Amino acid sequence: MAQGLNVLVTGGAGYLGSTLVPMLLAQGHKVTVLDNFMFKQNSLAQICHDPNFDVVQDDCRNEGVVKRLIAKADVVIPLAALVGAPLCNADQTGAVTINLDAVKMICRLASPAQRIVLPNTNSGYGVGEKDAFCTEDSPLNPITLYGRTKVDAEKAVMERDNSLSFRLATVFGMSPRMRVDLLVNDFVHRAVFDRAVVLFEAHFKRNYIHVRDVARAFLHAIDNFEAMKGQSYNVGLSDANLSKAELCQRIQKHLPKFVYLEAPIGEDPDKRDYIVSNSKIEATGYAPAHSLDAGIAELIKGFRMIRNTQYGNV
Ligand SMILES: NC(=O)c1ccc[n+]([C@@H]2O[C@H](COP(=O)([O-])OP(=O)(O)OC[C@H]3O[C@@H](n4cnc5c(N)ncnc54)[C@H](O)[C@@H]3O)[C@@H](O)[C@H]2O)c1
Repeated sequence: MAQGLNVLVTGGAGYLGSTLVPMLLAQGHKVTVLDNFMFKQNSLAQICHDPNFDVVQDDCRNEGVVKRLIAKADVVIPLAALVGAPLCNADQTGAVTINLDAVKMICRLASPAQRIVLPNTNSGYGVGEKDAFCTEDSPLNPITLYGRTKVDAEKAVMERDNSLSFRLATVFGMSPRMRVDLLVNDFVHRAVFDRAVVLFEAHFKRNYIHVRDVARAFLHAIDNFEAMKGQSYNVGLSDANLSKAELCQRIQKHLPKFVYLEAPIGEDPDKRDYIVSNSKIEATGYAPAHSLDAGIAELIKGFRMIRNTQYGNV
């Protein structure tokens, strides 16, 4: 097990980062987070006591800052991004400069020996690969600005040595910086508070992965870097290629009063309808440890604490 590495995580205060960074510290690494804290999140508060943790509040596009921080890094994990199609559409310049240009800058500033591990979305598989298992050789043809910036960032990273990328399934589970806009989290949140969801494209399939298993994939990559580098890997639960309706059935098992209805009220901007093979990363010795059912139970517990009450009295 690799220990004592200097790891720079941009966007480390986000949904993935605030779960990953404590796990990196627990493994004995020294971690520096660069994040602009755009959501005013205090998601790293519980690790400030750790002398192996440092944090810089700044923009990942600030070349002077990134250059100084990269100089001492063994591993760079660029998580900073405007994440998701709606946010990218709302700030298109930000999407390109943060999700793509800032990653290209990291590639330019890093020495060839420094390692980069980048997360990508697998949503681009959805276009044209509907009925077959998508592997890492399937074409990624993203149609949203978010998807395009992420795929272009992956291309930039994979052009250099000592890099690898993950193509993540839809992530679920509790994290210190919570996101309720992700599909599983969103449905469970609605099931807890509204007891109902209206589904569009109910039979469209996707795959899913727990946020702690994403963090475990990054740890696995650091530990097995020489064997894994130079490649992209799908990361998802192989037993959870499920449609939205099937996902709702799973939630119903935990919350029997939950109902879901179907109506043509929307369309997924990414047109996600695909099943994904994760055998490539599984062949490297990685296996997820958190099931979808465990994640649903965890979310139900978590949502007893979290509620968007800013403009309501209850
Ligand atoms: N969550 C998923 O399902 C998923 C799936 C595939 C890929 N990813 C990728 O994983 C990464 C993290 O996603 P997440 O779910 O944690 O999202 P998130 O929105 O919770 O995290 C993004 C983080 O980046 C920071 N950030 C944004 N702009 C910045 C800037 N200009 N300078 C510095 N920091 C900035 C934010 O403050 C936040 O902490 C992203 O690169 C995303 O594309 C996530």
